[in-house]
Amino acid sequence: MKTRPLPCLLALLLLFPAASLLPAQPKTEAKAPETELHKLMEKNNGAWRKLRRQAADAASNAASLELVAALREGLTKALALNPAKADDVPAADREKFIAAYRTRLKEFIAQLDPLEAAFKSNDNAGAQALIAKLGARQKDDHKEFRRPEKE
Ligand code: HEM
Repeated sequence: MKTRPLPCLLALLLLFPAASLLPAQPKTEAKAPETELHKLMEKNNGAWRKLRRQAADAASNAASLELVAALREGLTKALALNPAKADDVPAADREKFIAAYRTRLKEFIAQLDPLEAAFKSNDNAGAQALIAKLGARQKDDHKEFRRPEKE
């Protein structure tokens, strides 16, 4: 009997789709590796979340001032690091992208001064308003400087 290679191959592919013949990919490969900046930001996030929770409570103002100081310190460290997304932008635009990241980060850090002043003067409503503004800014900055998540 004559064998016909093409129909045989098609039948085989139907039975065993190509993907199932490939070695399984380890799950961790789908996730981008954690950068130093990512780890630093995660740490800042702890202080930020706590600060948001207690901003209205005047009895926590001394602790809130410590959180603002921790945020300032963490974000200042982030100034020395480059966003992972910098590797994705065309080489010709990279320097400009990194400079814009630093400018935005410095502006964010500067906004911690009025927040500190609000807690110092027990102006908790003012502190909450500043935190809302910073939250919106953080969202915009992440949109611009963070690598979009892969599907
Ligand atoms: C209160 C202030 C901030 C907090 C709490 C914060 C928090 C975080 C967290 C939790 C992550 C990692 C997880 C994720 O991807 O969602 C992250 C990533 C990142 N954030 Fe922030 N962020 C803050 C402000 C900023 C600002 C002002 C900028 C830039 C001007 C910025 C730039 C980035 C970048 C570029 C990444 C990705 C890390 C990488 O490229 O390796 N963040 N941030």
